[in-house]
Amino acid sequence: MKSSINKCLFPAAGYGTRFLPATKAMPKEMLPVMAKPLIQYGVEEAVEAGMNIMAIITGRGKRAIEDHFDISYELETQIKDTPKEYLLEDIRSLIQKCTFTYTRQIEMRGLGDAIYKGRVLIGNEPFAVVLADDLCTSEGEGVLSQMVKIYQKYKCSIVAVEEVDISEVHKYGIISGREIDDNLYMIDTMIEKPKQSEAPSNLAIIGRYILTPDIFELIAQTKPGKGGEIQITDALMMQVKKGMVLAYKFKGKRFDCGSIDGFVEATNHFYQKSHTQG
Ligand code: UTP
Repeated sequence: MKSSINKCLFPAAGYGTRFLPATKAMPKEMLPVMAKPLIQYGVEEAVEAGMNIMAIITGRGKRAIEDHFDISYELETQIKDTPKEYLLEDIRSLIQKCTFTYTRQIEMRGLGDAIYKGRVLIGNEPFAVVLADDLCTSEGEGVLSQMVKIYQKYKCSIVAVEEVDISEVHKYGIISGREIDDNLYMIDTMIEKPKQSEAPSNLAIIGRYILTPDIFELIAQTKPGKGGEIQITDALMMQVKKGMVLAYKFKGKRFDCGSIDGFVEATNHFYQKSHTQG
């Protein structure tokens, strides 16, 4: 199996109902924290981890994402040689470094189905998955970079986890497993959105994954699960039974920007950071 990971998949077809009406005509992934859309933070994290092909799963009403990762000639001409030109520097450099590919999920049948739709863009190689509404930040290396290092050693699928309050477990896929190294668990169980009484731990899967390409065949065999959706945790559980899946308690902080509270927290965090940096 290839040891480098070049491709990163961004499932971005969800309706974003928690952010209505803002997300009625605008994708949730384009909501800005400070002046940068959520999906740009995700792409930057993937680039830092050595990836250069971004595979984005979009849906109806998501065209703004494609326009964002493209040149706007009119705008470029308008601000050329003005003091505002620097505002486009980061996004220009991302566009130069990366290739962006897109496909649409026609029916929103769940995260597992959205990942499956990426098969045509990914092919037969290991890849990363970023849910851009989980905004991750860390003092040192980014979360995906940390995970790529683990992948290079173990060559199997890896999910990022964090400890959540037990009252929150019903919102996440929850794992349990044996700790085989610092902050690294070999998963034996995974339950999607369990009741508090059924949760095997408080280790919750967040929106960062590294997946081996056999996951596609397993998703194809996955029947609709919790909420009638094709759940990636069900497909990952098949991988657990056939081989090994790891859970990594990452270093850093995650903001759930799919919720109003998390989004406001992220905004405060980045605002304060920008002010302390001067
Ligand atoms: P969420 O559970 O956050 O759902 O999806 P959502 O529709 O985006 O938001 P709410 O709950 O209605 O507010 C987790 C991730 O999976 C993607 C979403 O875009 C998000 O990044 N997703 C989910 C898809 O791409 N397709 C789906 O069918 C479901």
